[in-house]
Amino acid sequence: MNRLDGKVALLSGAARGIGGETAKLMAAAGASVVIGDLLDAQGEATVAEIRKAGGQAEYIHLDVTSETDWQAAIARATGHFGKLDILVNNAGVFTGLSIEEATLADWQKLVAVNMTGVFLGTKLCAPALREAAKGSPHGSAIVNLASIAGLVGSALDPLYSMTKGGVTLFTKSTAIEFGRKGYRIRVNSIHPGVIQTEMGEQTFVARARRTGSNDLGPARDLVTSSIPWGRLGVPDDIAKGILFLASDDAAYMNGAGLVVDGGFTAA
Ligand SMILES: NC(=O)c1ccc[n+]([C@@H]2O[C@H](COP(=O)([O-])OP(=O)(O)OC[C@H]3O[C@@H](n4cnc5c(N)ncnc54)[C@H](O)[C@@H]3O)[C@@H](O)[C@H]2O)c1
Repeated sequence: MNRLDGKVALLSGAARGIGGETAKLMAAAGASVVIGDLLDAQGEATVAEIRKAGGQAEYIHLDVTSETDWQAAIARATGHFGKLDILVNNAGVFTGLSIEEATLADWQKLVAVNMTGVFLGTKLCAPALREAAKGSPHGSAIVNLASIAGLVGSALDPLYSMTKGGVTLFTKSTAIEFGRKGYRIRVNSIHPGVIQTEMGEQTFVARARRTGSNDLGPARDLVTSSIPWGRLGVPDDIAKGILFLASDDAAYMNGAGLVVDGGFTAA
């Protein structure tokens, strides 16, 4: 189950956090992975960790808002590993600002990374993914990192929620367009709840700030108590879902959203 032997995956924003954990899990499951991020030192460290464990990995500097960076990342995957089977559009940013606090510049930064980045990755990787799909019984796969904030409204970051809502529907639209064109690329989204990463920490800072406090403890406790499963998420919880969606075990999943939130949005 959930093996990726012989597959080549490109993951954006995978120097750390959910993307980093996913790259490690995918490599352990047999994939060759290309990690793209702005954080070069952390990206190289993640690659070193994967290689030390016997996996195949490459790091490349990738700003997801840059077409030329994407072209270089795709060339690294196809040049070094021979093809591209899997794209994980994982890079993302969060502001924690209310509508009245956020500036136009804040919004444009969010859109550039969370939406333009996903559009460019999808558009520019599609030719290589199509090519790889020709030699694969179950085709190629794209997994987009949306959020529960792309399914329900967010009081914490309405602008982030707007971008993730866009990713949710872009996922479905891409599945329809690529399906109609016969590309054999499955496209699905994953919707994490509150996950303990740098970004997860930023959500607690934003919550605490709303109450005029610097103490993150009460914010963390409040969120934890509203999760039916009773704990915060960890990157591995999400990496396992991404691995499944990228694998041939999800061969009939297309245009779908996988919610991994400990039941947070079930209520
Ligand atoms: N942590 C959570 O609670 C949570 C919840 C729902 C969804 N998500 C989503 O999961 C994804 C991963 O988030 P995370 O929690 O691991 O956060 P993180 O901040 O730890 O990691 C995000 C990564 O994206 C990279 N990045 C930012 N801008 C970039 C750019 N322009 N080009 C390339 N890389 C860039 C960062 O350098 C970082 O390595 C994001 O899309 C996020 O929105 C996270």
